[in-house]
Amino acid sequence: MKVLVTGASGYIGSHTCLELLKAGHDVVGFDNFSNSSPKSIERVRELAGKDMRLETLDLRETEKLTALLKEGFDAVVHFAALKAVGESVEKPKLYMENNVGGTASLLGAMEIAGCSRLVFSSSCTVYGAVEKSPVGERHPRAAVNPYGQTKLDIEDMCYELASEDKSWKIALLRYFNPVGAHESGRIGEDPKGIPNNLMPYVMQTAVGRREFVNVWGDDYPTPDGTGVRDYIHVVDLALGHVAALSKLEEFQGAQAVNLGAGRGYSVLEVIAAAAKAAGKPIPHKIMPRRAGDAAAIWADASLAKKKLGWETKRGLDEMCADHWRWQKDNPEGYGE
Ligand code: NAD
Ligand code: UD1
Repeated sequence: MKVLVTGASGYIGSHTCLELLKAGHDVVGFDNFSNSSPKSIERVRELAGKDMRLETLDLRETEKLTALLKEGFDAVVHFAALKAVGESVEKPKLYMENNVGGTASLLGAMEIAGCSRLVFSSSCTVYGAVEKSPVGERHPRAAVNPYGQTKLDIEDMCYELASEDKSWKIALLRYFNPVGAHESGRIGEDPKGIPNNLMPYVMQTAVGRREFVNVWGDDYPTPDGTGVRDYIHVVDLALGHVAALSKLEEFQGAQAVNLGAGRGYSVLEVIAAAAKAAGKPIPHKIMPRRAGDAAAIWADASLAKKKLGWETKRGLDEMCADHWRWQKDNPEGYGE
């Protein structure tokens, strides 16, 4: 297939471009580089041993986007978005404009260009405050912050579009917690500033960029008292997109599918696995709970298996070993 990838040079985008190229697809990507470096795609080309085009483009530049789409694409894989929860609370309008406005622009351009196949990056954040896991796709949706609201709004836009125009086929992939890096250590997550998410913080501590990990609460009703999440290796996640593209014709309009491992690990389990991977202890301190955190959330991943023929293959040790290799070989990320 000829596939257009938005947000191509970002963390999940770059890993997905690589797996798409390896699967034999013809890939064109674009990004506005607000949260990434084009270097990731230089490395993707090296790893794939193939070329792919990378354009500088913003989702909201509808005319340019329409012209690009008119080149003729079989499908779009849409990653481009802002994703920092804290920033979304400070700048809700920016998140609405960039994520929701940007997606409206993309969908409009796709309509004009006659492309009606979309794979969209949604998130388990659409399940809101989860009280019981595993969480299936029928769990009620709720937004707990402006970032989450953008995912909800975009899902709704897709549901409406596909119910009005039956030619659309849309996979709303709800990711759980992506971590890890390509096994080569050449591409990985390069968060700007102080990481909010656990794994990058743990790895930056292991490499000496941070003094210790703050463990946000050890009094949750979980086996060791710390928060439990469904961590998914980014390469498994990337392969989930390859699977979704191959099954998109079987979709009925817009449909949501969880991409998770279907099991959870606690904060202390992650720190222990990361210490094993790094071959050194990782200092950490128990702190009060972080506001808004759920005790535990993991996916019911059975629909992905049934519908996409996909399931995760890489466990926590591999996630940590690969993330560590990337962090150790690239302590400053892509270095910009
Ligand atoms: P990322 O920030 O690394 O990648 C997103 C990319 O989109 C970046 O390269 C950024 O520069 C680009 N971008 C942002 N706004 C743009 C715009 N208006 N026009 C063009 N490019 C734009 O993030 P990621 O972790 O790779 O996430 C990819 C997608 O997956 C996002 O939609 C995110 O919300 C979603 N998601 C991520 C996670 C996670 O934990 N990483 C979890 C669930 C869902
Ligand atoms: C966060 C986002 C969520 C997003 C998801 C994607 C918030 C409130 N939620 O969720 O919207 O979809 O990332 O990956 O930001 N932890 C620590 N110390 C740290 C960091 C985290 O103990 O320094 C704990 C948290 O309390 C949690 C677990 O580690 O129990 C995972 O945290 P994190 O990586 O931030 O992911 P989520 O909270 O699941």
